[in-house]
Amino acid sequence: MTSNTDNKDRIATPSDTPQLQAFREVVESRRSVRRFTETPIPDDVLADCLRLAMLAPNSSNLQPWAFYVIDSAESRQQAVKNCMNQNAAKTSARLIAVIARTDIWHDHAQQILREYPDKPVPKKVKDYYTKVVTMDFLRGPANVISAAKWGATQVVRRVKGPIKSPYYTFEDTKNWATNNTALAAQNLMLALRAHGFDSCPMGGFDEPAMKRLLGLNDDQHIVMMIGAGERERADNGVYNTQFRFDQDQFVHYV
Ligand SMILES: Cc1cc2nc3c(=O)[nH]c(=O)nc-3n(C[C@H](O)[C@H](O)[C@H](O)COP(=O)(O)O)c2cc1C
Repeated sequence: MTSNTDNKDRIATPSDTPQLQAFREVVESRRSVRRFTETPIPDDVLADCLRLAMLAPNSSNLQPWAFYVIDSAESRQQAVKNCMNQNAAKTSARLIAVIARTDIWHDHAQQILREYPDKPVPKKVKDYYTKVVTMDFLRGPANVISAAKWGATQVVRRVKGPIKSPYYTFEDTKNWATNNTALAAQNLMLALRAHGFDSCPMGGFDEPAMKRLLGLNDDQHIVMMIGAGERERADNGVYNTQFRFDQDQFVHYV
């Protein structure tokens, strides 16, 4: 078991540059904070954290995420209730819903071509976003195209060798959007930490009620709620000592 209370398990390497030390400091000091002070998170700080969140790696740069900052008193009151009145929501300076979208890949593929920084847009980029991405995601009514895609994928795999499976079902696309969005959520929490603030990711919320409150449709999925603010130190804002199982349990060198 490793605990980071005093970082005694950390191995300092010769490559411990100031940049690496700063990174370690951000990662190692991030905790899930359940009680925050009344110190607000300034708008420009939050905007910078969200900008850093959206620099997260994401598949084909399709950016299938959205962030709802729940600031209005009325919405916030209901959102806290939907988080089952958890302290991490109730005491947060900002409450953010992190959303994965399964309906946006096509629009974003078009937007990439419109906003592509290199002009003219290279042909292979155009082909990628019009053909490859479309084939990856398109399912057709009742997944009819998926059946054809499945067949074609099996043939290519057998004849030509390894090929990435396209997305056959709504669940495949939802997993795709969720994976990408979770990376942005982590960037957001680390950015808050680097700015001297803290956060708590929350899966403990009433999803249908929260979706109703935010006006989300069936293609907009709440990956997590994030409560953010300044950590309450006097009143034990962190509930327990941080620990993880031994690395050997999880890492496989093959
Ligand atoms: C997807 C997800 C959902 C979580 N949901 C909650 C939650 O509803 N309430 C809560 O207090 N903490 C929640 N947590 C925080 C975890 O309990 C916490 O990350 C874990 O215990 C490890 O502690 P640490 O983040 O301080 O290292 C959640 C974390 C994640 C990643």
